[in-house]
Amino acid sequence: MNYKQILQDIHKEVSALKNTSEVANYIPELAKVNKDQFGIYLNNINGENFEAGDADVTFSIQSISKVFSLAMAFGSQGDTLWERMDVEPSGNPFNYLSLLEREKGIPRNPLINSGAIVVTDCLVSSLKNPKEDFLQFVRDLANDQTIDYDYEVAASEKDTGFRNYAIANLLKSFDNLHNPIEEVLDFYFHQCSIAMNCKQLSNAFFAFANRGVCMQNNTCIKPKQAKRINAIMLTCGFYDEAGEFAFEVGLPGKSGVGGGIVALLPNQYVITTWSPGLNEKGNSYYGMQALERFTTQTNSSIF
Ligand code: DON
Repeated sequence: MNYKQILQDIHKEVSALKNTSEVANYIPELAKVNKDQFGIYLNNINGENFEAGDADVTFSIQSISKVFSLAMAFGSQGDTLWERMDVEPSGNPFNYLSLLEREKGIPRNPLINSGAIVVTDCLVSSLKNPKEDFLQFVRDLANDQTIDYDYEVAASEKDTGFRNYAIANLLKSFDNLHNPIEEVLDFYFHQCSIAMNCKQLSNAFFAFANRGVCMQNNTCIKPKQAKRINAIMLTCGFYDEAGEFAFEVGLPGKSGVGGGIVALLPNQYVITTWSPGLNEKGNSYYGMQALERFTTQTNSSIF
């Protein structure tokens, strides 16, 4: 398979599409990002890698971080995690509130904001230095010690994070948040602010495509947990567009409002796209277009 040529052709074709999408602006710092950037990076489990466009420009990973926090909490506390949240798709936007009220403070899954905030609460309870320990976990997964938080993005989200405060308060009222709201949200905003490029993200997700074994050949994630996290990505990774992503692309994956999308074919490859313009469901417009073309042309969706 000539991945290099395929990625370059797709990059060219998608870049020519009329782009009426918009950059996320509810986090003021993200509104400053130039919409006309677009990168793709693929690494396969044989150790080869290919790229096109802005694959080494860092961006805010936002909700893609929810996969890392889930892997860390699941790894340390195992199946007891599921006493505090479910694994069902929500069919609603990532920051939707009413479902949480109706379901008495039990989030539908760990990839919507309410679930990720409960996961964050678990990590605050179990980690000695949550921010440092989490960053180290991500650096080790990616095999890159230069990865860091973007403190301006974290502060910017904190200033306007009203819906996340509402979610945390609702969780607290149902006794599903054990630590102080400020502490949990401060950590959650920092997780979302991590700055990475397509290459670093593809490397960090390598273990999910490789039965839990990361690039340095260590088992970073238990194989049976990698399997389950991939299943949650497939059913819940794109919120109210999870069905559409399965229909068009057909891979487990995760998006973020910074415009990143990571998708993977177990035992084969990880592909990351980044373009900050979002469609109306909050997922990268160019990213979705590129990934649909990629799995169709390479005949490599899971279906
Ligand atoms: O909590 C938020 O609203 C953001 N930090 C993350 C949202 C996000 O990336 C949703 N994904 N598409």
